[in-house]
Amino acid sequence: MRTDTGQIVHLADYRPTDFVLERVDLTFELDPQNTKVEARLIFHRREGVDASAPLVLDGDELMLSGLLLDQIDIPAAQYDATPDRLTIRDLPAETPFEICVTNYINPEANTQLMGLYRTNGVYCTQCEAEGFRRITYFPDRPDVLAPYTITIVAAKEGNTFLLSNGNFLGGGNYDEGRHFAAWFDPHPKPSYLFALVAGDLGLIEDTFTTMSGRDVALKIYVEHGKEPRAAYAMDALKRSMKWDEERFGREYDLDIFMIVAVSDFNMGAMENKGLNVFNDKYVLADPETATDADYANIERIIAHEYFHNWTGNRITCRDWFQLCLKEGLTVYRDQEFSSDMRSRAVKRIADVRHLKSEQFPEDGGPLAHPPRPDKYREINNFYTTTVYEKGAEITGMIATILGEDDFRKGMDLYFERHDGDAATVEDFVKCFEEASGRDLSQFFRWYIQAGTPLVSASTSYDAASSTFTLSLEQTVPATPGQSSKQALYIPLSTALILDNGQIAAPSKVEGGEYKNGVLHLTERSQTFSFSGISSRPVLSLNRGFSAPINLHLEQSAEDMVQIARHDTDMFSRWQALTTLAMPNLVKATNAVRNDAPVAFDAGFITTLIEVIGDDALEPAFRAQVLALPSESDIAREIGSSNDPDAIHQARNAAMAAIAKAGVETLTALFDAFEDKGAYSPDATSAGRRSLRNIAMSYLSFAEETPKRAADAFAAASNMTDLAHALSILTQRFPDSAEAAQALATFEARFADNALVLDKWLSIQAAIPGEGALGRIKSLTGSKHFVGTNPNRVRSLIGTFAFGNPTGFNRADGEAYRFLAEQIVSIDKRNPQLAARILTSMRSWRSLEPVRADHARAALTTIERSPALSTDVRDIVERVLK
Ligand code: ARG
Ligand code: ZN
Repeated sequence: MRTDTGQIVHLADYRPTDFVLERVDLTFELDPQNTKVEARLIFHRREGVDASAPLVLDGDELMLSGLLLDQIDIPAAQYDATPDRLTIRDLPAETPFEICVTNYINPEANTQLMGLYRTNGVYCTQCEAEGFRRITYFPDRPDVLAPYTITIVAAKEGNTFLLSNGNFLGGGNYDEGRHFAAWFDPHPKPSYLFALVAGDLGLIEDTFTTMSGRDVALKIYVEHGKEPRAAYAMDALKRSMKWDEERFGREYDLDIFMIVAVSDFNMGAMENKGLNVFNDKYVLADPETATDADYANIERIIAHEYFHNWTGNRITCRDWFQLCLKEGLTVYRDQEFSSDMRSRAVKRIADVRHLKSEQFPEDGGPLAHPPRPDKYREINNFYTTTVYEKGAEITGMIATILGEDDFRKGMDLYFERHDGDAATVEDFVKCFEEASGRDLSQFFRWYIQAGTPLVSASTSYDAASSTFTLSLEQTVPATPGQSSKQALYIPLSTALILDNGQIAAPSKVEGGEYKNGVLHLTERSQTFSFSGISSRPVLSLNRGFSAPINLHLEQSAEDMVQIARHDTDMFSRWQALTTLAMPNLVKATNAVRNDAPVAFDAGFITTLIEVIGDDALEPAFRAQVLALPSESDIAREIGSSNDPDAIHQARNAAMAAIAKAGVETLTALFDAFEDKGAYSPDATSAGRRSLRNIAMSYLSFAEETPKRAADAFAAASNMTDLAHALSILTQRFPDSAEAAQALATFEARFADNALVLDKWLSIQAAIPGEGALGRIKSLTGSKHFVGTNPNRVRSLIGTFAFGNPTGFNRADGEAYRFLAEQIVSIDKRNPQLAARILTSMRSWRSLEPVRADHARAALTTIERSPALSTDVRDIVERVLK
């Protein structure tokens, strides 16, 4: 493992390479422990570069074994080779030359899962961001693009398939017991998009005819026997290809598109050109083993990686600071795709919930950074929800400000102008400026300022002049390294709702731009007046969450109820109910802490029950309404000195009160939405299941015994219902015989399915309360827990740290110490995984003092432990700072 060097990379230091890479030709002789890599690289010196400048190539834990210049050995005096750098001097000033590097690597010993590694007997690669340099010495940066020719030689036995990027050139027998395959990718690409896979795999095949009539072979490779479980992924792939043609005019550009599912993978998936590699959890699904959420994730991630072919591959990033150029845009695209495939309103609600529960805490804590950072110590730590999800929100705001037509024009211009480029965020935004004629220089601050803006709104209505006035003030909080902030350009979708439920059409709006229902807030404070409003309206602001902000608006409960009942924007109706719930939950938390009686506003509960009982509303929407703000949402709202136990008790008390008052409605929903007939993963069916299941969660608060959940567990005919029943049993009745029995049944039934056992691990890891830590410790000894597999580690340790607020934040600090030990030990084999799980400690400063002290002490132990990776050192130091 590479330990920390403390070096920081700055955006301001960017400059192009001295040498231009023309072509890459790689030969792999695969061996589990001793793979030979031969890289032939053709370079020429960039115009204007000094003739004495050496060629410097990146490496990571490499050992050079041969080095040729134009096929002749390079004398030792002419180069320096260390594990992480190869420097060659005295190279031709003007003519192109070929460097041939030979080195050997050990895929089986590669536990970091970066570079070339082995997973379940399969060779596979992960090169983004800087994994290619663990394969061979190379200018491993995204602005070095070249066509690649790949030759793979391997034993026939165990390696039926030899795959790489691009189009298949040919293959055949090599020598004794070995065969080979050659691939050529004509599209110049950076090294992070390289991939190689070799192994014995099962395969499903299909074809897609593109809009210009070309046939593309589609192949999904999975472990033998799992082929039927890849059918949904294939269907999602074809829908993605079609959608990108129709919505963005983007056609696929090779003869073949392959997806390989592997069981050991650090992230979700990777968009390598023509050869996407996936965490198998995002490929494999059938009704018995996958939940509705699994199906939705597969659809989304298959689409995401496919969409990268244009936003990421054809147009890539100049440097890693520009990561949100491809990630924010591609998340925006996959969100749009899912919205078109499913219910747009429900998708938006789910995305905003996710943004608020993941990105907002990041942006409000020690790890806050701009979507386009200007420095990093370890780029792997910047694959964050800020780069991805806030990046997507920024793209969405451009669409809102420009409107559909100009947004599409800007995208077309971006594809046309930058195809084949390694681009910057500036290049991207410029396309929208040109397409629309708008100046987006102020808007650009969203990319370079961290922190969630706060918009405070106050209103008044003057009946005499029929004028409604809205005063807005924006502030962006200070974040690490950015103490003062400039005003942002914030698009706020706004409606004024009249008594009769109609949306007012003002005769005139003054104080700033107001177009197509969107207010353009550009000043620190700005007052808009709406004329021709005949009666006092109710303000619905930031509809559809048009901007990722915190909103402060004093609004009466009656007004919120009016929005909840009448807004034509379903997102706003959900938002109003959430806004109504929050003060109730905060008040209840304070009451719990003060041993005072806990009470809830009757109006809030009545409205909620009325909405969920309204059969005119789609079930998935009603399920979202029932899902109260999460415990971490409540903690964020309270802001400081948090007591997770009190929050948990208060939220449960709210669920109990709602269950008590709404028992009839909830029982009716539970009965009405029973799944009859064959399982279908479509959004409507999934929505019905989600409403029934959340109704059952509530009913468990009104009932003394686990009977309903135990019956549901026994009756379940799909994984969605089965896993939900199991989590109610274990969360609500943890000590019951029924819970123990269900866990045992589940374990026995899925004993040979690791992905399902992940659910068994994470359901137990999420059980709240004092028993949690003991349970986690004993599960680390379970035969189903494999410490080298990232999915298992995330399911058990990750769920505990991120998804079990009471169990993890126990007041004696034991769980923080446990996590610290785990992090240090995981770091030794897989730094990326360790660093990611450690981010669960990012909000420690907002805990009450006793817990905060324990958290600091545990973090300090990590900080002081020897030989930390750059990944973990970077996170722990920033979190402690
Ligand atoms: N580009 C991939 C995706 O978003 C993620 C790769 C992340 N890799 C990493 N080492 N952090 O689809
Ligand atoms: Zn991506």
